Amino acid sequence: MKTSNAGGAVIDQPKLRQAVKPALDKTPASKPAAKQSKIYIDGKFYSEADAKVSVFDHGLLYGDGIFEGIRFYNGRVFRLEEHLERLWDSARSICLHVPMSQRAMGEALLETIRQNNLRNGYIRLIVTRGVGNLGLNPELCKTPSVIIITAQIALYPEPVYKNGLSLVTCATRRTNPSALNPAVKSLNYLNNVMARIEANQANADEGLMLNDEGNVAECTADNVFIIKRGQIFTPPITAGALRGITRSVVFEIAAETGIKVIEADITRHDVFVADEAFLTGTAAEIIPLVKADGRPIGTGKPGPITARMISRFREITRETGTPIYS
Ligand SMILES: Cc1ncc(COP(=O)(O)O)c(C=O)c1O
Repeated sequence: MKTSNAGGAVIDQPKLRQAVKPALDKTPASKPAAKQSKIYIDGKFYSEADAKVSVFDHGLLYGDGIFEGIRFYNGRVFRLEEHLERLWDSARSICLHVPMSQRAMGEALLETIRQNNLRNGYIRLIVTRGVGNLGLNPELCKTPSVIIITAQIALYPEPVYKNGLSLVTCATRRTNPSALNPAVKSLNYLNNVMARIEANQANADEGLMLNDEGNVAECTADNVFIIKRGQIFTPPITAGALRGITRSVVFEIAAETGIKVIEADITRHDVFVADEAFLTGTAAEIIPLVKADGRPIGTGKPGPITARMISRFREITRETGTPIYS
């Protein structure tokens, strides 16, 4: 088994409030008065109807750009610092110069939540390569665009956290890191979308993606954990997994509770014979997995270690994070 360590960064709590001016709301008075969110694009706020990017933006033309999905709970942004660090790592990997400091980005994100007057929700933070021509040369895209969208989401209904998810193994393999490293959270998610289509066609809740060696990489939008004889296993990042922020919280909770987490190559067989399994992701949080390719995992019901993980994770999300309205 190949093993390595995962670490967690410390949260900084930026207090700086920088004025970000809302753009003029040009929504015609005749439009229906649905509650619209305000969307940040390059330093200004727009209504949903007016939040537009150029058709020449390489984010649209080539999926050339990066993003983060971030949650905020109870008036605090969860693991803001780690998400910004990962965004910057993605940017460095694809030679994209983010046109603002991490601190200013953090403040723009907090201000977007304030503009939308939310205390709980989800943020999509996007940096596109910017406007170029129809050729793919990124050097011709002079200014990357920063977009911040807030949403109120609950990906899965509460009963799913009690009853668990099913998955199928997808024929679509996770992108080989030598072609496009899955550690980069890029705007090009077609690999994941293809796998998601397979999961949908099989009527499963999620799709398990293997790497070129046939080992488990991750799911279409979540990291994978299995539990066997009291130990927790998860694929290493080198297997083609995103360095999930929720994944790193699982490492922290496990350390607190004295359970060992081992980063190791995992096969489908390991998933089939696991005592328990769960998935992690910012949107899904920690969610039990109870069926894989038609086989019940363990008892076919969420197990005790998974339940403990979920309840501790909920405590942590309630109690920690960068204050939005301080
Ligand atoms: C492909 C993929 N893997 C794993 C994850 C989970 O990462 P995180 O916990 O940082 O949301 C995500 C979601 O961001 C994802 O898109």
